[in-house]
Amino acid sequence: MARGKKEGDGNWKKFIWNSEKKEFLGRTGGSWFKILLFYVIFYGCLAGIFIGTIQVMLLTISEFEPKYQDRVAPPGLTAIPQVFKMEISFNPSDKNTYEKYTKLMDTFLKAYEFNQEQDADFELESCATEPSTHKGEAPIDPSLGKKPSCRFLRSWLDNCSGINDPSFGYKDGKPCVLIKLNRIMGFIPKPPLNDSIPPEVKARFNPYIIPVHCAAKKEEDIDKIGTVEYYGMGGYGGFPLQYYPYYGKLLQPKYQQPLVAVQFTNLTSDTEVRVECKVYGQNIHYSDKDRFQGRFDLKFDIKSS
Ligand SMILES: *[C@@H]1O[C@H](CO)[C@@H](O)[C@H](O)[C@H]1NC(C)=O
Ligand SMILES: *[C@@H]1O[C@H](CO)[C@@H](O)[C@H](O)[C@H]1NC(C)=O
Ligand SMILES: *[C@@H]1O[C@H](CO)[C@@H](O)[C@H](O)[C@H]1NC(C)=O
Repeated sequence: MARGKKEGDGNWKKFIWNSEKKEFLGRTGGSWFKILLFYVIFYGCLAGIFIGTIQVMLLTISEFEPKYQDRVAPPGLTAIPQVFKMEISFNPSDKNTYEKYTKLMDTFLKAYEFNQEQDADFELESCATEPSTHKGEAPIDPSLGKKPSCRFLRSWLDNCSGINDPSFGYKDGKPCVLIKLNRIMGFIPKPPLNDSIPPEVKARFNPYIIPVHCAAKKEEDIDKIGTVEYYGMGGYGGFPLQYYPYYGKLLQPKYQQPLVAVQFTNLTSDTEVRVECKVYGQNIHYSDKDRFQGRFDLKFDIKSS
């Protein structure tokens, strides 16, 4: 047994280095060299093809405009605060229950506080205080250079600006929600046709506004939703056209998305109220698959004790 084992050891060692045939792991130095050479060339070619394709791809990409934006084409509508399950549940008399919402809104609105030093390079301009027609045309011509962006003032959101009431109405059971339309380069929203919008939206009609409207999601909630107040530029509950199109981060580094704030001033307490907010426009569509395309749902549960 012992001898057999020794012989086995000898074979093993011989396999690693066979001094008679000058073979390492069964191959001669020349053979190993050829194998190595083959793999060096093989992986070299692979890397070459990889780098080559990426270079060709980069040549076709513009610095100013995303090449593929078909997937984002219809804009999404976003609520701030963005919360888990889109559920806002709080007790007006207990600050701890709503602070998480108001903090998110306050942080978000920090970007809308105008101060001269931040804008030393005059990249923000005042584009009046009333909605007006869109600026420029898509597609984007990069040779135009940087473009100033319209300023959007936090104070336009009035009772939902958090300026006079840092609780954004939550302490009175009148919660505010901020709404933005996700930015898409070169997109110019078209106002809705007069007959395709709810009567409440018609009443607040302005030809240079992309209106937002919030209503009860379900029929049984219609009398629970109460009054909805809208705040935005010029007091209109919509996105003013002069903020479009967005020319991208390189040309408009300080672009400010216009906002709309909605305040639910008479929500029924101690019950879940489902709300749907929608933005209306001829080129804004909704999808059953994407719940945030042009709209969103929100659930309120205000506790009275
Ligand atoms: C805004 O708040 C003030 C003070 O609470 C109130 O008098 C006013 O009616 C509110 N505005 C709207 C549009 O609800
Ligand atoms: C839209 O309809 C409303 C009410 O029906 C009307 O007052 C308004 O002038 C119309 N606007 C346009 C642009 O047709
Ligand atoms: C609030 O809603 C209740 C019914 O839910 C109604 O009786 C009351 O008049 C409303 N208050 C205001 C100020 O609209």
